Amino acid sequence: MGRPCSPAPPHPAPTGAVPRRIVGGSRRVLAGARRRLHHKVVAAGEHSARQLWPAFPHAIRLDHPPTAELRPRYGSGRPPHAKLLQLLQQGEPRYRSHLQAFSAYHDDLAGMALTGGSSPEPCWLHPWLIGLDTVSLYAFTRLRRPARYVEVGSGQSTKVVARARADGQLATTITSVDPAPRAAIDQLCDRVVRRALEQANLAECFGQLQAGDMVFFDGSHRVLPNSDCVAFFLDVLPALAPGVLVGIHDVYLPEDYPHGFVELWWSEQYLLAALLLGGAPWIEVELPAFYASGRPELAALLAPLFDRPPLQAVNRRGSVFWVQTR
Ligand SMILES: C[S@@+](CC[C@H](N)C(=O)[O-])C[C@H]1O[C@@H](n2cnc3c(N)ncnc32)[C@H](O)[C@@H]1O
Repeated sequence: MGRPCSPAPPHPAPTGAVPRRIVGGSRRVLAGARRRLHHKVVAAGEHSARQLWPAFPHAIRLDHPPTAELRPRYGSGRPPHAKLLQLLQQGEPRYRSHLQAFSAYHDDLAGMALTGGSSPEPCWLHPWLIGLDTVSLYAFTRLRRPARYVEVGSGQSTKVVARARADGQLATTITSVDPAPRAAIDQLCDRVVRRALEQANLAECFGQLQAGDMVFFDGSHRVLPNSDCVAFFLDVLPALAPGVLVGIHDVYLPEDYPHGFVELWWSEQYLLAALLLGGAPWIEVELPAFYASGRPELAALLAPLFDRPPLQAVNRRGSVFWVQTR
C-alpha cells in the first residue's frame, strides 16, 4: 500500500465494521483507549530515544524521508554552489580589509587562555567557536565599539564579547536571548531574556539597535514552524535598522553543511542562501568566515596570530557569516 500523501491524523479512527452494540458510549471508550495506547507508545519511544541519545532528546516523525540521499549537496568532495561562490568571491577585497584590521588585536587575542572550563573568561579550545569565529567576534566588537550587542544563543560568544568590552573599555551593553545558555554568563550581561527567541518581545530586544550595533545569532539552526530561525530571518533581520552588523553562526556557504553535520538537520543557511541568491538589497556580506578561512591568501592574514606557539593547536577556520544591514 502506498504512503499517505498527508500526515496520518494523530489519533486514527478505528477501521473496519463497528458492531452496532458498541456504538455511542462504547465507541468513545474504545477511541479513548486507543488514544491512551498511542500516547504510551509515543512516550515509550521518546523515552528510549532520550536514553540512547541524551544530547538529542526530541524526535520529529515525518511522512516522507527527509531526503532520498543523505549527503551534503555542495562541497565535501563536490563543487560548491557555483552562483554563491561567485557572489562571495566578489567581496574578497572587503574580507581582506577586515582581516587586516583585525591584526590590531592579535596581541590581545594571543593573551586569551587556551582552555577555560567554567571560568567567565573566554578561551580558544572548546567545541562552540573555532579560530576565526573568536577572532572576528572579538575584533569586530573592538573595532566598532557598539553601543549595543544582542545575542541569541549564549555561552562562549558572550565571554568573548565581554572580554572585548573590558579590553577596549567599551560602554557596550550585552543582551542575551536564550532559554538555557551553554554557560553561566548572566553576570556578563546587562540584560538577560531567558525565553526562546520566538516567544521573546522582539521590539524590546532589537528595536533600539542602531547603526554600529551588533547582533550574533547562534540558536537552534533549524528552520521549523515558529522556530527561532523563522523568527530571526522573517521578523528580526528585515526589521533591523541600517548599519547593524549581524553574525550568523554555523554557516558554510558556498558549501552545504559538512558531512558530519547533515544528521543534525540544520537548515538555517538555506534561508540565508536564498536571500543572497535573490540579491536582497538590504544586506551586504561583510565577512563569510568559512569561505575566507578556506582561501589561502586570506587565511594567511591570520597566520601572525595562529602561528604563535600557544595557539598552534587552534582550529583556524570559522563559520560565522557576517552581514551588515543597509
Ligand atoms: C550552539 S549553542 C550557543 C553557543 C553560544 N553562542 C556559544 O558560543 O557558546 C545554541 C544555543 O541556542 C539556544 N537556543 C536553542 N533554541 C533557542 C531558541 N528557540 N531561542 C533562543 N535560543 C535558543 C540554546 O539554549 C543554546 O544555548
